[in-house]
Amino acid sequence: MIKNICCIGAGYVGGPTMSVIAQKNTGIRVTVVDLNESRINDWNDNDLDNLPIYEPGLAEVVKEARNRNLFFSTDIEQAIADADMIFISVNTPTKQYGAGKGMAADLKYVELCARQIAKVSTSNKIVVEKSTLPVKTAEAIKNILDSTGNGVEFQILSNPEFLAEGTAMKDLTDPDRVLIGGDHTPKGKEAINALVDIYSSWVSREKILTTNVWSSELSKLTANAFLAQRVSSINSLSELCEATGANISEVSKAIGMDSRIGPKFLQTSVGFGGSCFQKDILNLVYISKSLGLNEVADYWEQVILMNNHQRNRFARNIVKSLHNTVSDKKIAFLGWAFKKDTNDTRESAAIYVADKLIDEQAIIHVFDPKVNENQIQSDINYLATRSEKLNSSSLKSEPSPYSAAKDSHAIAILTEWDEFINYDWEKIYKSMKKPAFLFDGRNLLERQKMEKIGFTYFGIGK
Ligand code: UDX
Ligand code: UDX
Repeated sequence: MIKNICCIGAGYVGGPTMSVIAQKNTGIRVTVVDLNESRINDWNDNDLDNLPIYEPGLAEVVKEARNRNLFFSTDIEQAIADADMIFISVNTPTKQYGAGKGMAADLKYVELCARQIAKVSTSNKIVVEKSTLPVKTAEAIKNILDSTGNGVEFQILSNPEFLAEGTAMKDLTDPDRVLIGGDHTPKGKEAINALVDIYSSWVSREKILTTNVWSSELSKLTANAFLAQRVSSINSLSELCEATGANISEVSKAIGMDSRIGPKFLQTSVGFGGSCFQKDILNLVYISKSLGLNEVADYWEQVILMNNHQRNRFARNIVKSLHNTVSDKKIAFLGWAFKKDTNDTRESAAIYVADKLIDEQAIIHVFDPKVNENQIQSDINYLATRSEKLNSSSLKSEPSPYSAAKDSHAIAILTEWDEFINYDWEKIYKSMKKPAFLFDGRNLLERQKMEKIGFTYFGIGK
């Protein structure tokens, strides 16, 4: 029976997941720890509006469980020492140096966690990988833990997270499935059952799958790769639609009604973003390459190449439509986040489209309901394409869509925020230079309505 859980990493995954585990298992004490003191302070803030992560429904759960059996702390070693089960939920970004640069996952934080666990543990523990990791990472963790020499036994489980931003609480409380990978030895099975017990306090037993560790690790990468592949597939067809006069929305609908294909993740766009899709596919490509499976690697890499192509194609179309030059022209961006209802901008298509247009000397004015100026500058500077000074003179943040659009030559929609639909588009049109171009990277607006107002409207795939 698990009595005490510790989770290392109070981020987007660790925070919500542990909140729900604590809410549903009042007999278990759950402590979430993080190196980042200000993040922990935010989790402990009396004003629930200050929680470091915004997810609908999260504040209510934190309110119910916090300081009852859910705790947030920076005392990592104490929490590890007290726990019978430890979740590793730290970030695993793409490596920015050395072998596998730009492709492999950087496991340095995971390894540091394993070493810390090895150092302070004096009783047997179950260690659960929650972070998305390359296949066979559990083996590396086990290696480090088993080398402590102090007689403590560790079982390693893989329990990947499938939550999506904006719907995290629903994904956690009502998951399609929970996946738990572990060793098929008697002690391994005991560890798996301990984690199954925790989830079964709110998830029905048929939805909890148990597998070996490698299948579980690979399933997580594969699930994201399949989802991303659907978006790239539909995006590839959007170009074909534009060339032939077919309409991508009609094609999506028609194929999505085939129950074998299903309607989800068939929405064409300016390209997928987010912290997971690209990173996980790159991981899959890297692992395949390092195992000599070049055809497998090439197959999955194509999903990323198509996504890059879609973003570039969108930028190129803007330049071409504006009479082949955007130099010194004002272009308004509506949206910077990687999807609606989040302030997360990691790998957002907007960043890459902006980068291409700045290369062409455009001046971009961005309005996003949830993203601030600092974030926008830091995203574009992260690409290191040009000096920070040049970036800040070419890319500006605006307080409203109307100020962004005023005197602009074109508007580009990069994120599908609902509120964009109901703006006063007549007013926006009047304030722009003519002809007024509108590039709808999310097919959010109605072409007929926009053309009636006077816009020269471009959607995707139609
Ligand atoms: C991350 C990964 O992006 C995802 O692939 C994985 O499945 C789970 O972890 P997320 O929760 O969004 O997802 O990351 P982030 O919000 O960056 O949170 C990670 C936290 O770990 C940060 O608060 C960071 O301060 C903390 N951390 C990191 C530690 O406490 N110790 C470390 O050694 C490293
Ligand atoms: C994803 C997975 O869905 C989740 O299971 C996993 O745990 C983490 O990665 P997330 O990154 O939060 O979640 O966002 P998701 O809703 O999957 O969207 C990813 C990107 O694809 C967004 O940029 C979105 O705009 C784009 N997308 C999605 C499309 O362009 N078209 C679609 O039909 C669906």
